[in-house]
Amino acid sequence: MVSKTSTSFLFIFFLFLGFSLQAQDGESLFKATCAACHRTTSKKLIGPGLANVHEKRSIEWFKKFVTSSQSLINSGDVDAVKIFEEYNKIIMPDQAFSDAELNALYEYIKSVSPAKTDIATTEIVEEEEVPFEPTEEDIFIGRNLFSGIQRLENGGPSCISCHHVRNDDLVAGGGLAVDLTDVYDRLGKDGIGGMITGLPFPQMKISYQDHQITEAETLQLVAFLKEVSEQRYYQGITSYKNTLLIWGISGAAILMGIFPLIWYKRKKESVNKRIYERQIKSRN
Ligand code: HEC
Ligand code: HEC
Repeated sequence: MVSKTSTSFLFIFFLFLGFSLQAQDGESLFKATCAACHRTTSKKLIGPGLANVHEKRSIEWFKKFVTSSQSLINSGDVDAVKIFEEYNKIIMPDQAFSDAELNALYEYIKSVSPAKTDIATTEIVEEEEVPFEPTEEDIFIGRNLFSGIQRLENGGPSCISCHHVRNDDLVAGGGLAVDLTDVYDRLGKDGIGGMITGLPFPQMKISYQDHQITEAETLQLVAFLKEVSEQRYYQGITSYKNTLLIWGISGAAILMGIFPLIWYKRKKESVNKRIYERQIKSRN
């Protein structure tokens, strides 16, 4: 006969098993979809550190935000609008998670959140990350990938078709999207990596969702952007534009010199004036 205590023991056992499975699930989901932009500490990456987010946000809010942050923001939710503005209106990509997955994520973040008193120590540990020291070769390939000299393995447009960086080795890039010259300073290695793999921006998503940039390429691109960021003060700020400007001005000067010679006799006064005078004459 099974005693009452052993049934309740079994029940508790399965409950714990359920919880730990859920936590594991949450962890793998988090690592696969959120870790590019979020830490579970209080440290900022692209998005805010999520430590103790459960104390600040209800699970309902969390679910709505993760499913479609933009819908929540557009609905005028005060907290959502505030955090969106605080993060320079970076759009967090929508996620189609089931309710159970959202619960698992929420529980996972809660379970690894440091107690308030631990936060300071956690942050010190975070600072000791391995520095990112790319090789010359990575930087070189990254530059070629960025500028389209070398094709991306899975196709997709080169970054330079939309982005400009200040670098003397490259011609000016597109003006559709932000200048990436100092992006390494702003977002760091993980941040840029998150942008390239997470594709939070619709224009980039369209370009790369079916032409995923590989992990090696991501590293090379980040290596190049790091180099650009470090070298930016040594680059001629508008060298390319200056050349254009000088040629533009001298070209215009030459044309301005030639045109009057050609048209010297043809156009001493305006056409309008001649028509006007004709009108006056015919009236008289
Ligand atoms: C591409 C980057 C990116 C990814 C990927 C991402 N987030 Fe975010 N997240 C942000 C940014 C940026 C914000 C700040 C608000 C904004 O700009 O919309 C944010 C805000 C949040 C907030 C609100 C925090 C607060 O203090 O109110 C939560 C919660 C959140 N994210 C959870 C998640 C979860 C869970 C995932 C994974 C399923 C995820 N995010 C994936 C960038 C990202
Ligand atoms: C089709 C145009 C397009 C292409 C191609 C493109 N991007 Fe973007 N990218 C954008 C847009 C748009 C944004 C959003 C910011 C903005 O509005 O300028 C953006 C944002 C970014 C950001 C975040 C900038 C920030 O300050 O938050 C990074 C990093 C980035 N792109 C890197 C790249 C890299 C690396 C490549 C090449 C693999 C690339 N992009 C190719 C259009 C593009």
